[in-house]
Amino acid sequence: MINNIIPLKIAGVGYCIPETVVTNDDLTKLYDTSDEWIYTRTGIKERRLVSGNESAVDLGYKAAERALEKSGLKVEDIDMVICASSAPPELYPAIACRIQAHMGIPNDVPAFDITAACSGLIYAMSIARGFIASGMYKSILLVATDNNSRLLNWEDRSASILFGDGAGAMVVTASDDGVDDIISIDIRANGSIGDLIKLPLAGKNCPLVEANDEQPQFIEMNGKEVYKFVARTLPQYVEEMIEKAGMKAEEIDYLIPHQANLRIIQAVQERLGYSDEKVVTNIKYYGNTSAASIPLAMAESVEQGKVKLGSTAILCGFGAGMTWGGAIVRLREGIC
Ligand code: ACO
Repeated sequence: MINNIIPLKIAGVGYCIPETVVTNDDLTKLYDTSDEWIYTRTGIKERRLVSGNESAVDLGYKAAERALEKSGLKVEDIDMVICASSAPPELYPAIACRIQAHMGIPNDVPAFDITAACSGLIYAMSIARGFIASGMYKSILLVATDNNSRLLNWEDRSASILFGDGAGAMVVTASDDGVDDIISIDIRANGSIGDLIKLPLAGKNCPLVEANDEQPQFIEMNGKEVYKFVARTLPQYVEEMIEKAGMKAEEIDYLIPHQANLRIIQAVQERLGYSDEKVVTNIKYYGNTSAASIPLAMAESVEQGKVKLGSTAILCGFGAGMTWGGAIVRLREGIC
């Protein structure tokens, strides 16, 4: 924890999902699977996928425009852009730079991407908190956006059933009323199990040197081992995080978790003893949208009135790396 810091306000949130819906039944045209198999194991019924030239950049800047509008800030107020993405349409320029240009955020403002997979939004919030706390930057645009569907092997039924595309965004700024909307935040990684989920880049060595082993450029996942690791780690981690913040689970109004598998969400819910009304789930309609998953779940549930503002929520996520993280936040009136 940092003491004597400039407090941070979550000023606005927004999201964007592609229009195209692909259901579990649609996937039976690609391989041997069924709605029943997918739904009972994951809680997913359908997902939204980018179509044509639509990409994570388009989804990201639309989510960012909505978050900015809600924040009441203008593009000239933004003094940093951080984008979390692990399935981007291009490795560079950074999505953050593309979004800066699209939105007309001043040209000299720093903009960069981070890769922490599905924990990306929590990592980005943690970085932004440091910059705001120290007084180096005042208002930061965070965008979490992924077009997983373009990087999946659509012949691999074990991984491709899980993912969808989407974007979420958050504007954070120095708080002018002394209230810090990040009550607690924590990020973790364990690179020694990094091969559990990976996305190799295709590429060949220079022909003048020894050839490298070529890799197909697809998301590869050991679903069983990921499930075991997360089910073992996440519920206890979330419980300990709340304890370390000096709080009790019942003092927090909502759980807004990464939407990777309904059974994992339920394991965290059970550990915290929360009723269904306190837990945000939209995995049924969007699948796993990676970094976008938490801000998308947050902004949509507020917009739909499922999450009331003037409340607190615990966000938690995990993803490739392996990375994981959590944040206890205040959700003020007017953020969405
Ligand atoms: N439809 C029908 N059958 C299937 C499918 C499918 N889509 N996929 C696999 N199967 C079959 C397998 O071939 C296997 O058959 P077999 O027993 O004859 O060999 C059987 O079903 C069981 O396969 P498992 O892979 O063992 O299935 P499991 O029960 O582990 O469920 C799942 C797979 C849903 C992927 C689960 O492991 C899971 O949810 N893991 C967590 C994944 C996750 O959270 N990823 C997060 C990624 S976050 C990020 O950073 C990108």
